Amino acid sequence: MHLGLIGYGTIARALMPVLAQEQAMPARLTVLARAGREAEAQAAFPRATIVTDAAALIAAQPDLVAECAGQAAVAAHVAPVLRAGLNCIVVSIGALADPALHDTLRAAARDGGARIILPAGAVGGIDILSALRPSGFDSVVYTGRKPPRAWAGSPAEALMDLDALTAETVFFTGTARDAALQYPKNANVAATVALAGAGLDKTEVRLIADPSISANVHEVTVRAGAGEFHIRITGHPSPDNPRTSLTTVYSLAREILNQTREVAI
Ligand SMILES: NC(=O)c1ccc[n+]([C@@H]2O[C@H](COP(=O)([O-])OP(=O)(O)OC[C@H]3O[C@@H](n4cnc5c(N)ncnc54)[C@H](O)[C@@H]3O)[C@@H](O)[C@H]2O)c1
Repeated sequence: MHLGLIGYGTIARALMPVLAQEQAMPARLTVLARAGREAEAQAAFPRATIVTDAAALIAAQPDLVAECAGQAAVAAHVAPVLRAGLNCIVVSIGALADPALHDTLRAAARDGGARIILPAGAVGGIDILSALRPSGFDSVVYTGRKPPRAWAGSPAEALMDLDALTAETVFFTGTARDAALQYPKNANVAATVALAGAGLDKTEVRLIADPSISANVHEVTVRAGAGEFHIRITGHPSPDNPRTSLTTVYSLAREILNQTREVAI
């Protein structure tokens, strides 16, 4: 397989050993890096072809593209990739909380006859959540619980003294749409749960700073017409980027394997 990667950071780098372990190393790699970062990208991926725009990525004709770069990269590169007929896995799903970008990408996918593939990422239970959608939802609640320091740099910092917390503190309750707007750096999971299930306006989000934990904990509680479930995932932080859970890397690898193997599960 010829894999196109947008981004060469924590997720992209950690992906390769997982694919190697699964005997699924891409035969060819093309990596889209920002202009001026070519040498850095080449050092991270010595046998890859490095390009700096979507046109060059498309010209390289990869079989599949995976975005693991961030919301700005989704906005800049994914539409032309889809329009060229290339399926694209989008890891920075929070970008799709912007309805205009979401519409643009869907139109590009339709025009190109391509698919936008959204992995579960850091969270889980997305299979049953998405499957139960036609049965209707009474409620979908996503709770994101992180150690206080993990919320540094977000609006939570203005609401409390993160370093002085001694008990768990719920600092945001609202819709997934508001969560994605107010906490864009943490928008991926809320957007994933919302897009798979009840939508951005009918998915409740609770964000919690919890001094008693050292890893990120995601909980999804669903009451649907055809069943109910509760799932709790403790993601181990990636050693290179504590904000990225290792589970995201494995989820992306699974999505790539499902696109290429005889059996998709
Ligand atoms: N779906 C999920 O559950 C989930 C979980 C964790 C992270 N993510 C998303 O994955 C993204 C990548 O995570 P990471 O830990 O690998 O981040 P990282 O910061 O380690 O790497 C990001 C990479 O993208 C590149 N990049 C940034 N902007 C770009 C642009 N406009 N064009 C091209 N390349 C660009 C950077 O140079 C870097 O190589 C995050 O931004 C986040 O949105 C999603």
